[in-house]
Amino acid sequence: MVDVTRARSFEGIGEEYDLYRPGFPERAADIIVSESVVTVLDLGAGTGKFTSLLVGRASRVIAVEPSAPMLAVLARNLPTVSAQPGTAERIPVPDGSVDAVSVAQAFHWFDRDAASAEIARVLVPGGALGLLWNRADPACAWDLACHRVAHPAVDAADETSASAAELPGFVLEAHEEVHWTERITREAYLRRWGTVSSFLVADDAERAAMEASLEAVLDGADETRGKADFDLPHLTDVFRYRRA
Ligand SMILES: C[S@@+](CC[C@H](N)C(=O)[O-])C[C@H]1O[C@@H](n2cnc3c(N)ncnc32)[C@H](O)[C@@H]1O
Repeated sequence: MVDVTRARSFEGIGEEYDLYRPGFPERAADIIVSESVVTVLDLGAGTGKFTSLLVGRASRVIAVEPSAPMLAVLARNLPTVSAQPGTAERIPVPDGSVDAVSVAQAFHWFDRDAASAEIARVLVPGGALGLLWNRADPACAWDLACHRVAHPAVDAADETSASAAELPGFVLEAHEEVHWTERITREAYLRRWGTVSSFLVADDAERAAMEASLEAVLDGADETRGKADFDLPHLTDVFRYRRA
């Protein structure tokens, strides 16, 4: 069941999200967009972090996103993309009009059955659906500890695989884990957590407690203690489906 308050928590932010959230590796777009793709649609596109990798890979790129502040940043950063307000459950494009759909870090916010049916409607027969999520690299204990501060009840890998299990109307064709590393400042790392849904819906006291816990994790790990910047390993899970 989707937590609607948290799903809608992104309605208020745009600039901070764009500044502090991580991007995605080029390899993720290669897995989803083959050379035959002419039109690709990025759903729940946010400020365009993944959409930017689609530009140049397909002749026509459409981005659909319900949050007006997010979509405004996307339209400013990616002027060649057709940026349209809309949701996964009601995609504002005609039947059978796109060759591929991508969903980066967002499918778990959708009404799964309604969104699957809508995505199948807009795809051409045999069209591709790519679902992807960045998650903590299990080898990085301090980042995992920070993820547990933000999402105490959820194991990141479990959330991803549960979201990406069987989808009605689709066949799973490929799953790849892409490892990559980002150099990040301590300040940007801490501010990134402020753009995560559990921080956005928290009250001031809860947010202050979570921030103190994050600082304690960074002060306790050899890789981060006393450092202004450090390497942050990422793992991006990419699932490619084919419309049945
Ligand atoms: C974590 S952000 C990911 C944004 C972007 N894809 C990225 O990777 O940077 C989740 C996005 O899903 C959007 N979203 C939430 N519910 C949605 C829905 N039902 N349909 C489409 N997008 C939705 C939010 O507004 C937000 O932009």
